[in-house]
Amino acid sequence: MSQKSLFPGVAVVTGAGGTGIGAATAKAFAAAGCKRIAITDLNEASLQQTADAILSAYPETQLVVRPGNIADETFVESFMQGAILMLGRIDYAVNCAGILGGGQRSTETTAESFDRINDVNYRGCWLCSRAELKQMLKQDPLPSHDPDREPQRGSIVNVASQLGIVGRPEAPAYCGSKAAVIGMTRSDAIDYSKDGIRVNCVCPGLVETPMTVQSEESRERFRPAVEIAPMKRMGKPAEIADSILFLCSTQASFVQGHALVVDGGYVIN
Ligand SMILES: NC(=O)c1ccc[n+]([C@@H]2O[C@H](COP(=O)([O-])OP(=O)(O)OC[C@H]3O[C@@H](n4cnc5c(N)ncnc54)[C@H](O)[C@@H]3O)[C@@H](O)[C@H]2O)c1
Repeated sequence: MSQKSLFPGVAVVTGAGGTGIGAATAKAFAAAGCKRIAITDLNEASLQQTADAILSAYPETQLVVRPGNIADETFVESFMQGAILMLGRIDYAVNCAGILGGGQRSTETTAESFDRINDVNYRGCWLCSRAELKQMLKQDPLPSHDPDREPQRGSIVNVASQLGIVGRPEAPAYCGSKAAVIGMTRSDAIDYSKDGIRVNCVCPGLVETPMTVQSEESRERFRPAVEIAPMKRMGKPAEIADSILFLCSTQASFVQGHALVVDGGYVIN
């Protein structure tokens, strides 16, 4: 017997190129039966890799693939409008694009480096979620998977970090940018509850992605942090994607403004 998908609507994922959390999330949507997906990333070649992987496994997917910079307001508006034109609406929006930067204390950090990190991680995330909210407000809600629950007009998941909750050495701009995402998520959740829109964020711990394991030097930099978490390992992108899909789905119908920590226990230690 064929089962109905939890994702009958349209998914949008930023930072979806390559082998990181965004790519895993886009693939997870396709695997979960989402038939309409829009993906974007700054890196055109790695974005195409994700598109190829989705289309080879799920050729029936209607996929919008558009590279660009989510820190650029004009691009964000045009990407979202294009996705809406092609796919009709936005139901599950995952704002995942982000950069690490840092490795310096505040006194060694330039204002340019601070601005670059915040432009992508905080302002870029806000630009995307603002565009998604504008569309969600205009569209009719979709029914829940459970007829006893409220329909859902849209669900946004911003990708913050455990470092939005706890500090780490030599990352003031990154930690601040992710704390800002958590604060923005809560404020939007309050404002749009009455419209049937949920806004949550995930706070991943250390995850094996190009951001953390692209070089031996990078692995070394993060090794002490891996040891702090009770589970003493890095997470897999798919483990974060699963938590994102849960928050997007109507199974999370009463979860609002939450910062879901998925970190192998790092922040409890
Ligand atoms: N990997 C981790 O340990 C970890 C932990 C906590 C939070 N995060 C967050 O998860 C998110 C995904 O990171 P990841 O680990 O998958 O890293 P990643 O580098 O694999 O993915 C980030 C993607 O964002 C894209 N990107 C960067 N700047 C962009 C811009 N201006 N416009 C559009 N796309 C842009 C990159 O090209 C890349 O494909 C980020 O927001 C990151 O801060 C990661």
